Amino acid sequence: MSIVKKTRWIAAAAAVLLIPAAALSAGNAASCGFSGGDAVRGKTLYKSTCVACHGANGRGTIPGVPDFNKKGGVLTKSHSVLTDHMERGFKSPSSPMAMPARGGNPKLTAQDLRDVHSYLHDTFGCGR
Ligand code: HEC
Repeated sequence: MSIVKKTRWIAAAAAVLLIPAAALSAGNAASCGFSGGDAVRGKTLYKSTCVACHGANGRGTIPGVPDFNKKGGVLTKSHSVLTDHMERGFKSPSSPMAMPARGGNPKLTAQDLRDVHSYLHDTFGCGR
């Protein structure tokens, strides 16, 4: 095998080995056990409806908003609980402020919420 061919073969083998590793890294909705959402659409929805309170970095911009990146934080809650809280709103006793139903945008559909849910896990992980 020529040196060029050998180098190409090594590069191809490395690519095959690296792609699945990247797909399985933390912060992937599927690795959090969530499916049925389109994180790309979800990103657009997050940027228009959620970002004012939750921030692009998910750490929250105002008191009472949880940090989505926190280990053991709100993203460890079950998918059905998170869906319910996003859909109908939610207020915990410790927070001075409530999460508004559908982030305050009544036009968001169930699929929109699945998409943004997928974006949350893709971007901020599963709280683990
Ligand atoms: C007006 C501010 C505001 C907007 C806009 C907003 N949120 Fe929230 N969100 C909050 C607050 C405050 C909490 C914490 C409520 C509490 O713990 O009582 C919260 C909590 C949450 C939680 C955790 C719920 C739980 O069970 O602990 C999720 C998930 C969430 N928001 C998702 C979203 C998504 C997705 C959007 C956009 C569609 C959004 N939020 C828009 C203020 C907001």
